[in-house]
Amino acid sequence: GKEKELIRGSWESLGKNKVPHGVIMFSRLFELDPALLTLFHYTTNCGSSQDCLSSPEFLEHVTKVMLVIDAAVSHLDDLHTLEDFLFNLGRKHQAVGVNTQSFAMVGESLLYMLQCSLGQAYTAPLRQAWLNMYSIVVAAMSRGWAE
Ligand code: HEM
Repeated sequence: GKEKELIRGSWESLGKNKVPHGVIMFSRLFELDPALLTLFHYTTNCGSSQDCLSSPEFLEHVTKVMLVIDAAVSHLDDLHTLEDFLFNLGRKHQAVGVNTQSFAMVGESLLYMLQCSLGQAYTAPLRQAWLNMYSIVVAAMSRGWAE
């Protein structure tokens, strides 16, 4: 439908430049909640969040996140096929100390990145389309916290 078209259309350009867009997203996330930085064990020695954001391990995580988003966009017609993967991904995040409440701020940061990158093309329906997809991904990951 229309929502899928909005998501696919906007991801077409963003997905070609994953790292810079992911860096915008995570810079925003650490502005919103600086404590999340400490969950990346390899960032304990960076002076500022700017230094952390340019460390290779950190950029690798940014890439991993963008690849998950890429997978979700590619599977808009059959998101349920990602359930097991996302469940396990949730469990890994529980293990590293992430709280499910933090996903609200990750969502804010995703929208912030979209707004920065898309400019005029960032519309209310587009925002809603991305929120809907994101909430499906988060719901699947959050199952990894149960018991
Ligand atoms: C792995 C933290 C959000 C995807 C990790 C690791 C940490 C971490 C510490 C293990 C070290 C590493 O691989 O770099 C966080 C924090 C987040 C967050 C603090 C925000 C609250 C996300 C999101 C996604 C994601 C939103 C994708 C939708 C991944 C992937 C891995 C990973 C694919 C690798 C898992 C594996 O080794 O199989 N994350 N993460 N992360 N994260 Fe995140």
